[in-house]
Amino acid sequence: MHSYHSLKRLAHAVPLPAMFVDLDVFDSNVHALAQICRISGKTWRPATKSLRVPALLKRIQKIAGETQKGWMCFSIFEASYLYSQGFDDLLLAYPISTEAEYAEAFKLLEAGCNFHLMVDSLAHIAALSGALSKKIANDKRILRFQVCIDVDMSWRPLPFLHLGVCRSPIRSLAQFKEIFFEAQKSDFLLLTGVMGYEAQIAGLPDKNRFNRWQNPIKHLIRTLSKKNVLKRRGEIAEFLKAYKARLRFMNGGGTGSFEFAAQDPSLTEITAGSGPLQSQLFDYYTETTAQKILRPALFFALPICRIPDSKKVTLKSGGFVASGEVGQDRNPALYRPEGATLTASEGVGEVQTPVCVSDSSLYQLGDPFFFRPAKAGEIAEHFNHYGLFRDEKMEEIVPTYRGLGLNFF
Ligand SMILES: Cc1ncc(COP(=O)(O)O)c(C=O)c1O
Repeated sequence: MHSYHSLKRLAHAVPLPAMFVDLDVFDSNVHALAQICRISGKTWRPATKSLRVPALLKRIQKIAGETQKGWMCFSIFEASYLYSQGFDDLLLAYPISTEAEYAEAFKLLEAGCNFHLMVDSLAHIAALSGALSKKIANDKRILRFQVCIDVDMSWRPLPFLHLGVCRSPIRSLAQFKEIFFEAQKSDFLLLTGVMGYEAQIAGLPDKNRFNRWQNPIKHLIRTLSKKNVLKRRGEIAEFLKAYKARLRFMNGGGTGSFEFAAQDPSLTEITAGSGPLQSQLFDYYTETTAQKILRPALFFALPICRIPDSKKVTLKSGGFVASGEVGQDRNPALYRPEGATLTASEGVGEVQTPVCVSDSSLYQLGDPFFFRPAKAGEIAEHFNHYGLFRDEKMEEIVPTYRGLGLNFF
């Protein structure tokens, strides 16, 4: 698809190291995800954490049209920034818990933003209600924080076996009801949504080229837990229907479970953030949209800064390792030239990255080598700009959050 020589010509347009997005591929990935949503009658709420480039968010909005509805954000300060840029319907997927965050949420509420805060416990309900009641103690305004209940979708086939992420403690319908009624009672909250993210399906690559022996086990977990997720999301949806609760959305899914989520009748919307860029980790899935339809759109290029011997070149920078359980699959993957590999002893380095090649005399100082990051969003914290190209031509250079001087963690 991308030849080394075409990418190399592009890399001459910008100082290296640099990030690149292939717009044709990005647009076609966005079309593909939007189409799956359209067919299933659901909307798409993209996860901003997996992009972190406002221009790319706007691009999704433009291409997906009405199928894209709202954004899944990772920080209340990010939500404030996005609102100031014209984005609205912002779901904070992770709870807030500090005074500074409550104060920012209040500012956003006063500004008229449509945003939803995440809760998963009576403590969250009490903290949000308390923070808002303090703020409006002396005035007559009726203000409410919109809240979404995060329901744990991990799979516990045995009492001691927890397969999935450790986030929300709400696992049963009874626990859900308790928090649901508590939220209903509060004069300061309005329950607007439910989120049930099936991380053990969406975030568990089962075709990993490292630790291959684990793949069948992971595949089994992904396959068997689907029924459980459908059942539990279904129970909650049924309860909400019976209670005639007027929520605005029920959210689930991720790039690694997009089609599965699209087929779940309980969900009204699906989240995916990495899909438009199709970072390396999403190659390691079987039978998913990511695997079947999406293509890699995101790369970074590092220049050769020295040539240590006839079989190696050394590149500048490169240590952009992704978060999560530490393993080889968290490293960036060499993309072009084909056949080049990382060394086992140094991997990707803080300042330099040695790479094994068939013949180092084929390369010169300054020549670029291209990588795909393991994850789609985190890499944006290392670069100020992304170069957006089409047909070997750079169309635009756009800032990342970092390039705008924004750091939300
Ligand atoms: C709550 C939630 N939903 C969805 C996703 C999926 O994001 P992506 O499509 O980038 O994998 C994530 C990722 O961690 C998440 O935390």
